[in-house]
This record gives sequence, C-alpha cells and structure tokens, in this order.
Amino acid sequence: MHNDIEKVLLSEKEIQEICCNLGSRITDDYKDKSLILIGLLKGCNPFLSDLSKRINLPLEIYYMKASSYKGRESSGNVKIDLDIDIDIKDKDVLLVEDIVDTGSTLTKVISLLKMRKASSIKVVSLLDKPEGRLVPFEADYVGKTIPKVFVVGYGLDFNERYRNLPYIGILKKAIYI
Ligand code: IMP
Repeated sequence: MHNDIEKVLLSEKEIQEICCNLGSRITDDYKDKSLILIGLLKGCNPFLSDLSKRINLPLEIYYMKASSYKGRESSGNVKIDLDIDIDIKDKDVLLVEDIVDTGSTLTKVISLLKMRKASSIKVVSLLDKPEGRLVPFEADYVGKTIPKVFVVGYGLDFNERYRNLPYIGILKKAIYI
C-alpha cells in the first residue's frame, strides 16, 4: 500500500499536532456552549476520533453521510445518505470534515441543518483545497491548506481504498490512469 504513495503531505506526527492545536482552539471557543460534533462519514472517522480527544469539553458525537464522489471526481450533485436523528434546535453544531474541495457537500449539509434552528453551525476540516471550489465556502477551522492534488489516507479514499493509511499522501498517477 505504501508503495502507491508518491509523496507524504502530512505525517502522523503533523496530524497529531494539528489535532492538538484545533482541539485547544475549539475548547476555548465552545467553553460556555453545548457542543455537538457531527462527523461526515466516512472520511471524518480517524480525524473525529483524534480531534475529539483533544477537546476538553463534555460534547456529543453524531454522524451524517453525504455523497457526490466517484473515483477522483465530484459530481457536484450531493445526496444525503444518512441523517442525524436528534433535535439540534438551540445547540452549537460543529461539522467535522476530512477535506473541503468544491464546497458543494458542506453547502448542502449546512443548508439542511440551518432549517432545524441550531444556535450555530460551524465547520472544522482537516484539509482545505481552495483552488477546487465550485461554490464559495470557507471553513471556520482548517488544519492545513493544500494545492489541488488528490490525496488519500487517514480516512480519505480512492475507490474506498487507502483510508487506513496512518498519514496523508498523494497517490501515484499510475494507480488511477
Ligand atoms: P466537496 O463537496 O467537493 O467539497 O467534497 C468533499 C468530499 O469530497 C470530501 O469529504 C471527500 O470525501 C471528497 N474529496 C475531495 N477531495 C478529495 C481528495 O483529494 N481525496 C479523497 N477524497 C476527496
């Protein structure tokens, strides 16, 4: 599996440093609030697990699933495959995402959650690819901004594979051409 990676973009150590930094900022920002983390499956999984351990607050964790990607391309047409089954009215929601690319997924999820009258809805994303945007979108907390390259590992997949890599890397072109 490691042979399929051209270059490591974020090492395990760098990822843990990012989780520590984001966790302490989120702890400060939400200390008087009732925080609900909503992870966007499946990519959020390792990030949500590591980040939540660095947030020193009593919080709740739920999951949603939205899809638009096939292989390396986003269709731009976002579908909600799994929804939360709790009332978020008057709660402070923090969506946990692996990467923001076109911005379509989070725009769709946020517009759905806004209708449910949460007190606030914010986004933490481990990675951000601003050059990929098709709709204007800015995450509230970003671990690292990266160029428009296709990355895998630490939850991120190519055709469902590589999610179990402990770091984030750029996939060799030979794997998808
Ligand atoms: P967006 O709707 O284009 O912002 O896409 C967000 C979703 O696309 C992420 O949650 C990922 O599942 C997927 N995605 C975007 N870029 C990559 C990438 O470089 N590698 C793997 N998945 C990606």
